[in-house]
Amino acid sequence: MKIFAYGIREDEQAALKEWMTNHPEVEVGYTDELLNPQTAQLAAGADAVDVYQQLAYTPETLTALHELGINKMSLRNVGTDNIDFETARCFDFSISNVAVYSPNAIAEHAAIQGARILRQTKPLDHKIENHDLRWAPTIGREVRMQTFGIIGTGHIGHVLIDILQGFGAKVIGYDIYRNPELEAEGIYVDSLDELYAQSDVISLHVPSLPENYHMINKETIAKMKDDVVLINVSRGDLMDIDAVMSGLDSGKIFGLAMDVYENEVGLFNKDWSNDKLPDEKIADLIARENVLVTPHTAFYTTKAVYEMVTQSMNASLAFIKGEETANEVKY
Ligand code: COI
Repeated sequence: MKIFAYGIREDEQAALKEWMTNHPEVEVGYTDELLNPQTAQLAAGADAVDVYQQLAYTPETLTALHELGINKMSLRNVGTDNIDFETARCFDFSISNVAVYSPNAIAEHAAIQGARILRQTKPLDHKIENHDLRWAPTIGREVRMQTFGIIGTGHIGHVLIDILQGFGAKVIGYDIYRNPELEAEGIYVDSLDELYAQSDVISLHVPSLPENYHMINKETIAKMKDDVVLINVSRGDLMDIDAVMSGLDSGKIFGLAMDVYENEVGLFNKDWSNDKLPDEKIADLIARENVLVTPHTAFYTTKAVYEMVTQSMNASLAFIKGEETANEVKY
């Protein structure tokens, strides 16, 4: 049995090596290169590939694997939006993701960044760095005084609700699939419009699907309360960033915490410290005192990385052995 893993970063190696020690019966090869039609050849002889990348798994890439006799692919992340499912279906690919690696990693990042916007920590830090130790005008808004609207109450949304309730905040939620436990608590509103109208802070926890594309746009922003705070740690294409920037310019939006950006591929997780940022919008957003940009790092914790490696390798092994895995993506 052989699994070949792509895009293995240094911080993933310890978990991978532990998995290899615990599974001496499996031959494991790995590379730091990403999977593409050329690098697919590295997996020759393998029964399954283990991958994480934001680059697309194109028809060409999947065909290259198919030609090597490989039709088992385990993703080390949640999002499957970069897979060409039509080709995958054609070649009968078994695909798994790691749907739950650490909901807390992402939820707690959303809570922290939202609280930082409310307490104006970015402008306050800048003032202090400049030895301006006055209080005004960086007055904070207390988390417990806000109504948080959580769009999407799956694993991550649910943990965020728990964290915010711990702060004493009022939380309302919207989801097309209602969680019975949260339903019993009465957190659900019946429509997104109701959520927009009632929320001081709105946090997005839904996947990138055609129906969610640019759900935060000029029209939906107009339905929100003045001074709303927006948090997006999910997917960049949920927001029409131009509409959000206009809302920031007009003062309708009090602040934005964003960990994802529609054009982040090729931009995030790269060192631009010696070069001009190639994206003017992200440079503009980073420069704003009421915007917190993080480069898709909400997930990036030791616990999450361990789970991503371990669960994806377990899923690859299950596929090879013909066993069921709860992480299989049904498509
Ligand atoms: C995902 O798991 O899909 C994420 O968004 C995190 C990724 C950057 C590893």
